Amino acid sequence: MTDLIPAPAAVDAPRGGGAVRLDAETTLYAAPGTETTANWLRTTVGPALGLPLAPGGADDGSALRLVLDDTLAAEAYRLSVDGTRGIELRGGSGAGVFWAAQTLRQLLGAEAFRSAPVGHGEDGGGWNVPAQVIEDAPRFGWRGLMLDVARHFMPKHDVLRYLDLLAAHKLNVFHFHLTDDQGWRIEIKRYPRLTEVGSWRPRSKWGHRASDLWNETPHGGHYTQDDIREIVAYAAARHITVVPEIDIPGHSQAAIAAYPELGNTDVVDTASLGVWETWGVNPNILAPTENVLRFYEGVFEELLDLFPSRFVHIGGDEAPKDQWKESATAQARIAELGLSGEDELQSWFIRHFDTWLTERGRRLIGWDEILEGGLAPGAAVSSWRGYAGGIAAAKAGHDVVMCPEQQVYLDHRQHGGPDEPVPIGYVRTLEDVYRFEPVPPELTEEEARHVLGTQANVWTEVMENRSRVDYQVFPRLVAFAEVAWSTTLPAPAERDFAGFESRLGAHFQRLDALGVDYRRPTGPLPRQQRPGVLGRPIEGAPPNV
Ligand code: ACM
Repeated sequence: MTDLIPAPAAVDAPRGGGAVRLDAETTLYAAPGTETTANWLRTTVGPALGLPLAPGGADDGSALRLVLDDTLAAEAYRLSVDGTRGIELRGGSGAGVFWAAQTLRQLLGAEAFRSAPVGHGEDGGGWNVPAQVIEDAPRFGWRGLMLDVARHFMPKHDVLRYLDLLAAHKLNVFHFHLTDDQGWRIEIKRYPRLTEVGSWRPRSKWGHRASDLWNETPHGGHYTQDDIREIVAYAAARHITVVPEIDIPGHSQAAIAAYPELGNTDVVDTASLGVWETWGVNPNILAPTENVLRFYEGVFEELLDLFPSRFVHIGGDEAPKDQWKESATAQARIAELGLSGEDELQSWFIRHFDTWLTERGRRLIGWDEILEGGLAPGAAVSSWRGYAGGIAAAKAGHDVVMCPEQQVYLDHRQHGGPDEPVPIGYVRTLEDVYRFEPVPPELTEEEARHVLGTQANVWTEVMENRSRVDYQVFPRLVAFAEVAWSTTLPAPAERDFAGFESRLGAHFQRLDALGVDYRRPTGPLPRQQRPGVLGRPIEGAPPNV
């Protein structure tokens, strides 16, 4: 098959042809360690195609077999379709077998992406898979999507759907941006006001800064701790790690609105702050006090109980220091700690949580501002303000996730035309994303090993619902997934974008079957446009301001 996305490392089709037929009688043998894939095939692909996939034994000639193979790397797989031996998904771990199953679903055709059969099975309900052997493995171990559910809340079922979409593209990290100035989205039992107060705002800016339109419908919502457990378990069943983000010390107005003592009370009347209704960089950052540290330790304690992820994201971006400059409390803290100024105070704040997380067997990751004033040892960096932060961090021996805003911020408009809905930021087309290179040439091979991988980021100021998120994310995430996964892509300029586009034709049928509201190559459909709602269509302008 030539239309697999992301492109596998190698496909070998035997000259003799042949195929394996799957039908209602087909049994599925799952070796120990492959249960997630067996479950997923039975609950996802089986119902789509009318295949019960009853359990088979190791030696009874099951046409579909899932096995582990420790000669393969953990996420690598070999998918063999053999006219006499059947279909075997062989992975270096449960994850490798699962990624093989994602490839098998594509081989079965677009109908395998539906929820129930629509009657296109060959020969009365059977499905033929052409004989071939696919060898595959990912380029990066961190292949992520960050979703901002703070600016606009995404209901739980839509989050689960996004996890399905990540899995279908062999992405394995879901960076869950849970808190921001405009909303706090996770239940913290010991601080109920975080969601009672902090998860609702009375109205929202409609569009970006240039707009003066308001959506007067109150907006909000949050995930209960059981919702979070469900999301984490659903992700784990798809070999996706959920990395939670609690953004500190900036992007914290919703928390301060709920608990005014968290803010710089000697500078502003924090009791009069509500949850923020508009977008941009907010001056109301946390106070650098012991009480605030204790409060957030309480938040992180509950977080660690919910999220098994090794990495925990503490934000650290866009924390204006004006209030710390004015605050006698903050200045006294700087003096007491012998720090050189506010940047070092932020560094102290971040280091506190680095130590705290490390003591609990976790690792801190933060946006590249955490480099300013000295990066805590062991901390990892999400490089968003271009590559520079990531390069500096990798050269200093820190691990890095590359997500430069100029390349992979999917909130940015994907076309320069006048019909793009609420166009913000840079124009970054599908082809631009396809030609994105996560490892900059400035890094030596040794330094490049610190690039754990890459993620696309989706900030939702101008995406008020799932359909808008779909429009911004797809099909660019498809190109991104190939960049993050495929080991065979050449240097950006040499990448075969036309070839990718032609495979994308088949992929659009899969996305249609999944109900993804992607941007068509011809541009937004009339209902996908937002005439009159202004964005910030200034080439080169910083986003999110
Ligand atoms: C960011 O875009 N402020 C990380």
